[in-house]
Amino acid sequence: MAVIPEFQRKGIGGQLLYRSVIVLGHVDYYPGFGFVPAEKWSIRSPYEVPANVFMALELVPDGLENVSGLVKYPEFRRPDRPGHLSTGP
Ligand SMILES: CC(C)(COP(=O)(O)OP(=O)(O)OC[C@H]1O[C@@H](n2cnc3c(N)ncnc32)[C@H](O)[C@@H]1OP(=O)(O)O)[C@@H](O)C(=O)NCCC(=O)NCCS
Repeated sequence: MAVIPEFQRKGIGGQLLYRSVIVLGHVDYYPGFGFVPAEKWSIRSPYEVPANVFMALELVPDGLENVSGLVKYPEFRRPDRPGHLSTGP
């Protein structure tokens, strides 16, 4: 992790540190590690998937307190097919 020197000591580093994990994944796997449906925090998937496969885990107590809304995965989007998961080149 790095913050451009002239922007350091402004709290940016602290905001970049992970306080939670959100996954779109297998319902038989992630709950075993404590993940629960992200709808608990009104956190929504950008994709039309069953609620029980979109899950979240707080890494610190109340790590998702006051967090809600639509998750965006810009790195997965194909410019020619907005909203679609990229499946390869
Ligand atoms: C480490 C780094 C990412 C911190 O980013 P940042 O945005 O400046 O951090 P924050 O503003 O969230 O700092 C929060 C607190 O962390 C501590 N802190 C931040 N930078 C520190 C430093 N260089 N040395 C000691 N403590 C530091 C301070 O307590 C700070 O609170 P303060 O502003 O009241 O002093 C940034 O200094 C950086 O990019 N450094 C160069 C790259 C690097 O060393 N990365 C880590 C290698 S894994």
